[in-house]
Amino acid sequence: MGNFTNKTLSGKTALITGGGGLLGPRHAIGLSAAGAKVILADINTVGLEISKNKILEFNDKAQIETIILDITDLNAVTQFQKTYTARNKYIDILINNAALNPTMKEVGTNVTGKIEDYDMNQWNDEINVGITGAFICSRVFGSRMAAEGSGVIINISSDLAIRAPDQRVYSPTMSFDDIESYKPLGYSIVKTALIGMTRYLAEYWGHKNVRVNALLPGGVYNNQPQQLVENVKKRTLLGRWAKVDEYEDAIVFLASESSAYMTGQSIVMDGGRSV
Ligand SMILES: NC(=O)c1ccc[n+]([C@@H]2O[C@H](COP(=O)([O-])OP(=O)(O)OC[C@H]3O[C@@H](n4cnc5c(N)ncnc54)[C@H](O)[C@@H]3O)[C@@H](O)[C@H]2O)c1
Repeated sequence: MGNFTNKTLSGKTALITGGGGLLGPRHAIGLSAAGAKVILADINTVGLEISKNKILEFNDKAQIETIILDITDLNAVTQFQKTYTARNKYIDILINNAALNPTMKEVGTNVTGKIEDYDMNQWNDEINVGITGAFICSRVFGSRMAAEGSGVIINISSDLAIRAPDQRVYSPTMSFDDIESYKPLGYSIVKTALIGMTRYLAEYWGHKNVRVNALLPGGVYNNQPQQLVENVKKRTLLGRWAKVDEYEDAIVFLASESSAYMTGQSIVMDGGRSV
């Protein structure tokens, strides 16, 4: 972590959706190191518990709360906002991080991600969590930020918002002939939509001092199949995958006054893959 003593988040409260997954707790580690109180929201109870413990292992002074919250449910999110702010300060920082990532073929299912037989339930779920959920949270928490005259929204997009997936990386022979599972179109659509949402909301709430930016991470190494790991390395300028802790400083930058004159923009951190 960098030295953020002049850019403290002390007194700020951040809400991270999908906080029970891989990157949610890493965002929280960065934000709590900078002094923020962090609420992890997820539908996965076990994931939330694991995340909380992971964060406390790094920083036993971290102020962490967890909440089971389905971000696709407007009533539930509204209710949480009301009850939370009745007891505490409003949410200063929202990180729209939750998304579905049905990448590889799951055992026992027919989900391949192929356009020809795309599973429409999967499509609806992807859009619902990744786009509608981010909109609902932005609407509920962002409206309150605007009313208070201060706030930050960070949308976690992906390098797949600015480049097409190279499906050959999922093939053992780097060809189009033997791909068993495709990176699904829904993922590209969701991540691209978040760039649009970032620009729209930055314009909509800029005059209320609510800043909205996006982070576009590249793939994080997480014990993916060896073939995939090697194929992606060859297509990445830095010749490697991201480490799980490499986005924390960017999150703190976007959440803090370090980025005070930045809104509607995206930070691309993909090891150079998209260029
Ligand atoms: N991991 C990567 O390599 C990578 C790369 C680029 C971008 N990203 C993006 O970063 C973000 C986090 O990625 P991750 O790897 O931690 O994903 P993850 O799958 O580990 O975590 C996502 C979390 O979202 C939660 N979630 C799903 N539906 C929800 C709902 N309705 N309400 C609340 N929570 C819900 C899941 O339970 C899960 O814990 C995602 O937006 C992802 O697209 C990840």
